[in-house]
Amino acid sequence: MKDILFNLDRPYHARIGRGAVNGLAAAANTFTGKRAVVITDDGVPTEHVSKCASLLEASGKTPLVCVLKSGERNKNLGSVRSVYSFLYENGVTRSDGVIGVGGGIVLDTAGFAAATYMRGLPFISVPTTIIAQTDSAYGGKTGVDFLDGKNHIGVFSHPREVLCDTDFLRTLSEAERVCGMGEVVKYVAIALPHMSETLSRDLPSDELIAGCVDVKKRYVEADEFDTGERHVLNFGHTFGHAFEAASGFSIPHGQAVAYGMLAVSALGERLGITDGSVLPAIRQACIACGLETDFAPLAPSALPLLVRDKKADGKGLELVLLEKLGKPVRLKLSAEDVFSHMRSLISTE
Ligand SMILES: NC(=O)c1ccc[n+]([C@@H]2O[C@H](COP(=O)([O-])OP(=O)(O)OC[C@H]3O[C@@H](n4cnc5c(N)ncnc54)[C@H](O)[C@@H]3O)[C@@H](O)[C@H]2O)c1
Repeated sequence: MKDILFNLDRPYHARIGRGAVNGLAAAANTFTGKRAVVITDDGVPTEHVSKCASLLEASGKTPLVCVLKSGERNKNLGSVRSVYSFLYENGVTRSDGVIGVGGGIVLDTAGFAAATYMRGLPFISVPTTIIAQTDSAYGGKTGVDFLDGKNHIGVFSHPREVLCDTDFLRTLSEAERVCGMGEVVKYVAIALPHMSETLSRDLPSDELIAGCVDVKKRYVEADEFDTGERHVLNFGHTFGHAFEAASGFSIPHGQAVAYGMLAVSALGERLGITDGSVLPAIRQACIACGLETDFAPLAPSALPLLVRDKKADGKGLELVLLEKLGKPVRLKLSAEDVFSHMRSLISTE
């Protein structure tokens, strides 16, 4: 079992490996109240939810289970409201606690609801997808989408602990496994190029998962509130979020990030910043994981949505490019420049 400490004002541990969920009873015993609210969605296998509920019961807590509708289209204020209603109707107080059990959507939504209900309930994260285990469960970004604005409503609020049980990944469908690898390819590209050989359609090893979390820890500790250095973790996301929104959120997040990394690397190459070896290496990594690589058909509808990015301002878009694998740089470009380069790139594809 790997234990990674996020050394922030309020430090917390991420425990990563098979059987990590068995630490749930001890983690929940930090709630002084009796109730432990498990928030999940209807796509998370019930065996994982039951396992969490029985661990809580055995530790003397009363588990209450709130099941949300799965899918990015439900990552919205409507789901947050359902959580608030559940907490209210069950008389949950600030001495009780919330446990998110699921993928990135559950954890973002449940983390936000927990952070804002009664000005904050304690929150424990139990990630069950590849994206959640390698990325979304750590770093304190919680929130939901608003209209076609991705993650536009949210707050920074860290969990008390993350229990990343890699056994949970065994029930993922092939499609979820493939999409989940989008964020893993991102970590490999920005900081772990030596692990690129390990990328495949199989589940990532515990070592690769912990490697991604170590990278995240470094950036989160350096820039907790995402004002500069941490933006590097958004490699592929400015375009990725636009692809996601342009598809009406039918393209899963990990696949959209893969398209985004390819699009921004093509742009970086055209600008003379990105080495010619980067785009083929990322394409190869995506193919090895089963991710699709042809972003061009969706690009015309995605481009206008780039300006909605949360890091865009009156002066333009902030993009993360790679000079070479493992060497990210941040660059500000006007939206017009990005549009014109991308239009000519798409027309020459
Ligand atoms: N907060 C952050 O820092 C951060 C970082 C990266 C991504 N995200 C967010 O994460 C979301 C994507 O997360 P995701 O890819 O986990 O999607 P997801 O939460 O939709 O999970 C994918 C599907 O798998 C199901 N599922 C969950 N665990 C399972 C399991 N063990 N076995 C079988 N099925 C399971 C879910 O019910 C869902 O249907 C996006 O909304 C993205 O914005 C947030």
